[in-house]
Amino acid sequence: MPPITTIDDLKTIYKRRVPTMFYDYAESGSWSEQTFRENVSDFEKIRLRQKVAVDMTNRSTATTMVGQDVAMPVALAPVGLTGMQHPDGEIKAARAAEKFGVPFTLSTMSICSIEDVAAHTTKPFWFQLYVMKDRDFIERLIDRAKAAGCSALVLTFDLQILGQRHKDIKNGLSAPPKLTIRNMIDIAQRQRWAWGMLGTKRHSFGNIVGHAKGVGDLSSLSSWTAEQFDPALNWDDIAWIKERWGGPLILKGILDVDDARRSVDSGADALIVSNHGGRQLDGALSSIRMLPDIVDAVGKDIEIHMDSGIRSGQDVLKAVALGAKSTYIGRSFIYGLGAMGEKGVTAALNVIHKELDTTMALCGERLITNMSRDNLLIPKGFRDEFTD
Ligand code: GLV
Repeated sequence: MPPITTIDDLKTIYKRRVPTMFYDYAESGSWSEQTFRENVSDFEKIRLRQKVAVDMTNRSTATTMVGQDVAMPVALAPVGLTGMQHPDGEIKAARAAEKFGVPFTLSTMSICSIEDVAAHTTKPFWFQLYVMKDRDFIERLIDRAKAAGCSALVLTFDLQILGQRHKDIKNGLSAPPKLTIRNMIDIAQRQRWAWGMLGTKRHSFGNIVGHAKGVGDLSSLSSWTAEQFDPALNWDDIAWIKERWGGPLILKGILDVDDARRSVDSGADALIVSNHGGRQLDGALSSIRMLPDIVDAVGKDIEIHMDSGIRSGQDVLKAVALGAKSTYIGRSFIYGLGAMGEKGVTAALNVIHKELDTTMALCGERLITNMSRDNLLIPKGFRDEFTD
């Protein structure tokens, strides 16, 4: 196999090895996918300022996220159904992340449970919370994350209802996949995946099965969210969640300056500028385009992270130079996981780190924490092409 030098190399292998249903789940945005596409293409519009003859020794990409040391400004984003992309996927990704020195965020909608991931890792990971109508279940879920030693809670605020991704409906997305003729033909061509799945007992939503009462068809993410997620979730809920949790709280899904101000008022420790990877409100602007305004409005009052569209170390660098303390990768690590399990996630992190480190040096900087807008060339109108 030729060496892996880009995230795209991993994506090519991923596409061959993982059933179409799960590839499509990861690789979709909602409706027309405009926001999904622009998350990536808007990064390309920002250019870098080259600086030469600067001492490049002793470089460091290390920084912190909510007070915790990280080897580079990248965390693994919560991704539902990660354990369908690769057998025991959450455990594999968490192990790669802890070896690399970046946070792994376990989704509420994971296949491996909180306890299972904790039992197979040695360092604290983060937990992402979806708030459901069953308050009792959610309180117990928060308590379980605490008991497992999770060191930050990521509260997703942009998914009370699910944005429609056409392919998931057409594919009949479920975990585990239903054994229709179409699925069986597809899986028969992915024997590595199929044998791996036969070798694990982790096939369903591990945080929920056996813990939540009165669940309907749990195998279908869309019917589960429609039935169980709390559409009444609002800013007032942060207080009880924060109190119950008692640790660092990160608010995910902020794409608006007024919402960023409310995030500060809520007492959260950090916010994530995010449009959920283009999976929720299609037609929203890309995260990278919204980032500077949010940094200017609240950057002094709250730690700012960003996700959506990061496929390279250069993207990480651009986000950091625009004022994000750190970033998250979702699809970029899922490609690696689906391609080669834990090794693939490590490969994705290595690719991103190398690109980040080399780009930083060629921009004439030795410390990631020194990057600023001075290192960028931003096209005129990038921030104010769209008015509100
Ligand atoms: C869930 O977070 C999803 O985007 O499918």
